[in-house]
Amino acid sequence: MNIQRFDNDEALSAALATAVLESIVATPALVLGLPTGRTPLGLYRELRERSRGNRIDWSEVRTFNLDEFAGLDPSAPGSYRAFMQAELFDYVSIAPGNIGFLNGMAADLKAECRRYEDAIEAAGGIDLQILGIGANGHIGFNEPADGLCANTHVATLTEATREANAQRFGGDWRRVPDRALSMGMSTILSAREIVLIATGGEKAEVVRGMIEGLITTRLPASILQVHHRVTVMLDRGAGRSLSGVD
Ligand code: GLP
Repeated sequence: MNIQRFDNDEALSAALATAVLESIVATPALVLGLPTGRTPLGLYRELRERSRGNRIDWSEVRTFNLDEFAGLDPSAPGSYRAFMQAELFDYVSIAPGNIGFLNGMAADLKAECRRYEDAIEAAGGIDLQILGIGANGHIGFNEPADGLCANTHVATLTEATREANAQRFGGDWRRVPDRALSMGMSTILSAREIVLIATGGEKAEVVRGMIEGLITTRLPASILQVHHRVTVMLDRGAGRSLSGVD
């Protein structure tokens, strides 16, 4: 893993935004895999600001988001689709038809998962997958377990993950759906390049396990160790437990 350290979230977000925008300029039909959560907020802010006035042409870019809650309409305020519209899509020149998203309201959720895998394949696969990491080591909604799913699937959310997502549901974790649709481990590992971002001291232990520990389904992000092109971008807090760091 290529580890990059930054003084703070702002510096990390700026550096990643530069890398993403340079990739779009070099490859206008770039296929991006995108995360939600608090960690990428700075990235999306930078992308919005630097794309203003059509300075960056997003018209051929395609995106696939990692996950979405089950049973929520895409327009519902708590949905990840609504998050992405508000943080990025409404502000850049991306074609609506180029936005790939799991539909948590699909009548047949398994069929919806298969549709998503097919759509990613039809797009030629993901060029650059950006990931956050849950405090319990999950990526997307691939939660710690005895076994993990390879492909896009219906996931049952742990109470801890529902609590971590409660902010978008009036602070009440019981209002957070208990199921979600998520890319699987193989979906994620099939990306040609992966960048995982983590900020804040509450991620420090899980970041250490992901980078320095054994590969284990109990820390799903540790499986990224097998990918040949992974960059981990950390602020001071998230990197503070790595060996060789005071
Ligand atoms: C959420 C998302 C993940 C995200 C993670 C971390 O539950 N499903 O894709 O990476 O939790 O979120 P945050 O960045 O808010 O810490």
